[in-house]
Amino acid sequence: MSRVGQAGFSSAAPGSTVWRNTRPVTVGLIGAGVMGADHARLLSGSVSGARLGGVCDVDETRARRVVEATGARVLPDPFALIADDDIDAVLVASSDPTHEAYVLAAIAVGKPVLCEKPLAPTVDGCQRIIDAETAYGSRLVTVGFMRRYDPGYVELKQALDDGVIGAPLVLHCVHRNPANSPGQPSAAVITNSAVHELDVSRWLLGEEIVEATVHTPRPAAAAGGTADPQLLVLRTASGALVDIEVFVNAGYGYEVRCELVGESGTVELGMPSPTVQRRAGVIARPLAMDWRPRFAEAYRRELQDWVDSVRLAAPAAFSPAATAWDGFAATYLAQACVRALETGAPVTIDLPSRPKLYEP
Ligand SMILES: NC(=O)c1ccc[n+]([C@@H]2O[C@H](COP(=O)([O-])OP(=O)(O)OC[C@H]3O[C@@H](n4cnc5c(N)ncnc54)[C@H](O)[C@@H]3O)[C@@H](O)[C@H]2O)c1
Repeated sequence: MSRVGQAGFSSAAPGSTVWRNTRPVTVGLIGAGVMGADHARLLSGSVSGARLGGVCDVDETRARRVVEATGARVLPDPFALIADDDIDAVLVASSDPTHEAYVLAAIAVGKPVLCEKPLAPTVDGCQRIIDAETAYGSRLVTVGFMRRYDPGYVELKQALDDGVIGAPLVLHCVHRNPANSPGQPSAAVITNSAVHELDVSRWLLGEEIVEATVHTPRPAAAAGGTADPQLLVLRTASGALVDIEVFVNAGYGYEVRCELVGESGTVELGMPSPTVQRRAGVIARPLAMDWRPRFAEAYRRELQDWVDSVRLAAPAAFSPAATAWDGFAATYLAQACVRALETGAPVTIDLPSRPKLYEP
């Protein structure tokens, strides 16, 4: 039976603007690490219409630290949290291999679930989620690809969709982190980091990637044996090209760049900081040392949109939210890119056709 119905969160026609539910959405959080703590802070202070009801982490001290600031309960069993009558919706921010079981459990009790990327680390795991959601009969799953909410990416997509730069030809992407854990598997550069560009490329261009090649220069000394940086070159169904330089030991800071070249112009993300410093002989723009300050507004908008969709019991009109299908596609593409990295040869990508539930 649908827990959405039991909780009083009644269903509404997609696109409806009627607020079906006036009481706050009570969210249960699984995973109280870096991302979980950040989501808890946003839910408690910066997102309207929601409250944090319960937190679970295998490391209970982390869960306790998060609830101290919010007044939520610590629940030791994640499956009990998902089934708890007080919890309306579930936010999964635990480590990657745990996502599938929690998302499936949320679907089994009919609760909306926002799952941090990846939906699941394997294509088979994503497929099981797609099958479960399809059997349930309506969409409950959102995947945390927050760049779709970043004001810069949104404006870039708007310019493309408005025809300002003509039809797209090339999308240049750069994704740099200051440092990563030594000995990180080379595949993780793709599955943890470049996966954001894989999702945002599909979303921006509105079409699928059909071929991938991964080039590697000699590895950076700081990478400790990991193939880093990597250059992914992707071809889309219409023949546009996407290049992604991903460099997770770049040393100097966290930076994301993106420029879309069209038939009659280009559009690119602006500078990451709104201020310019002049000091000690340089003109400089400050850079964050990790992704959270850069995408703070995107995380806030993503959570607000999700909470609104739970209250409406339908996706908000024009929501850019990533569905379980987008999560499947991202893992499918990432795995194809890993094969391209390992073989050094182009890999043809034949994404299965989109199930009816996920048609726009
Ligand atoms: N969207 C983004 O930009 C973004 C950025 C970073 C991380 N992530 C994703 O968010 C998730 C969390 O990443 P993080 O950086 O917070 O990692 P983290 O290691 O800081 O936190 C993960 C937490 O999950 C807990 N955990 C592990 N197994 C668990 C289980 N079985 N049940 C409950 N809790 C469990 C750990 O104790 C830890 O507190 C990962 O899936 C990661 O890929 C997304």
